[in-house]
Amino acid sequence: MPHIDLEKIIATLGNVARILRDKPDTALSELRKISNQIDQQIPYRDGHSARVCDYSLKMGNALGFSDEQLVNLEAAALLHDFGKICVEENLLRKPKSLQGEERREVEKHVMRGYHILSGFVDLDEALKGVRSHHEHYNGLGYPQGLTDGNIPLYGRIIAVADAYDAMTSDRPYRKAKSKEAALEELKRYSGQQFDPHIVEVFMIVI
Ligand SMILES: [Fe+2]
Ligand SMILES: [Fe+2]
Repeated sequence: MPHIDLEKIIATLGNVARILRDKPDTALSELRKISNQIDQQIPYRDGHSARVCDYSLKMGNALGFSDEQLVNLEAAALLHDFGKICVEENLLRKPKSLQGEERREVEKHVMRGYHILSGFVDLDEALKGVRSHHEHYNGLGYPQGLTDGNIPLYGRIIAVADAYDAMTSDRPYRKAKSKEAALEELKRYSGQQFDPHIVEVFMIVI
């Protein structure tokens, strides 16, 4: 497991959740620190959550989200991979794309993160995004195999931001794609992996 003081992080998350509605600026700034700390501990993830958050907020703004929706989207994006702290570090470091049992083990980060965080009732809206960020528009994603509009909107947005950041970052088993190639890929999987409307919005804001 990554070296993280989970007890301390959970305590801070409790405070964040409590003040998320009344003092969103303070809460989100605390949350950014936590997600940054976690990213630094997870191999090849440095800055990932912050970038996913940035892309997601650009889309949320373009979609005319209310302040409250933007707060929930930001919290969801910052916490989307929280469950990776419960995944064996050697799997995250493997110099090849994972298959089979190992792949399923990494996929468990979604529900592990969701279960840890679901204790904080004030995060319930944001958690919809955490839980659904690996669902696919065509129903072939995980953990629930939800389809199109049944996937919470926060999850559909984070899915596009997450995939773009993953493609444009180096991984142990492959080099980063160019921005153009990554956008082409998003277009190719629009309507399959991704919500076509969200892909369109991303093309405009990026
Ligand atoms: Fe993820
Ligand atoms: Fe991610």
